[in-house]
Amino acid sequence: MEVLIHPTKHAACTLGARWIARLLRQKPDAVLGLATGSTPVLLYQELIRLHREEGLDFRKVTTFNLDEYLGLAPEHPASYHHFMQENFFQHVNIPRENTHIPDGLSTDVPATCQAYEDKIRQAGGIDLQILGIGGDGHIGFNEPSSSLSSRTRIKTLTERTRQDNAPFFANPADIPQHVLTMGVGTIMETREVLLLAFGPGKAAPIAATVEGPVTAFVPASILQFHPKATLLLDEEAAGLLQRAEYYRWVDAHKPTWQRV
Ligand code: GLP
Repeated sequence: MEVLIHPTKHAACTLGARWIARLLRQKPDAVLGLATGSTPVLLYQELIRLHREEGLDFRKVTTFNLDEYLGLAPEHPASYHHFMQENFFQHVNIPRENTHIPDGLSTDVPATCQAYEDKIRQAGGIDLQILGIGGDGHIGFNEPSSSLSSRTRIKTLTERTRQDNAPFFANPADIPQHVLTMGVGTIMETREVLLLAFGPGKAAPIAATVEGPVTAFVPASILQFHPKATLLLDEEAAGLLQRAEYYRWVDAHKPTWQRV
């Protein structure tokens, strides 16, 4: 696991966007795994800027989003379909048919989930997965106790996650109980992971992810087994890391060829 601590989330997102731009220069038809939530919004803004000002090209890119609320239509303002459209897709030149998000209106959940897994496989697998992290250490919507080898499936949200995501809903009663999410096993098969975390509310789950034991109780901790996982943190999210000074030292002494 590589831990990169930045003074601000702006700095972290600028690096994250350069990271993705480097991949797209090397592999213009890369497959990206995308995340929602407030955390990656700045990253998307920086990618949009690179598209507009530096010609970053998404024409051949394919994307798979992590998750979606069950029961919400794509047009619902709190749906992840709507989020992605507003915050990213409509601002870059990615063909609509190349973007994939689990179907929140599925009437056959097992078939929808299997088809999602099949599509990821047919696309050649995910080259780079963007992740946020929940306050309880969840990734995607894989809540604590999720099987660490799980695939795309239905999950029931904890009350805490429902409350954390309440600001996105006009009426708290509308927050769905159920979601579709890529599994932890699906995420672990991606070739590279960039996990972003900002603010004091993420300090505890980040410390547990990086320095705690690998446990289904903190689903993100499985990333200790991922061959290429990088954490882009601001100072606050790094606030409880015991070895923060070492991670900074490693970053400062990185060989030039490893820098983005
Ligand atoms: C939701 C999403 C996750 C996201 C998490 C954190 O649960 N399904 O993908 O990482 O929220 O959200 P935020 O970035 O708003 O803190």
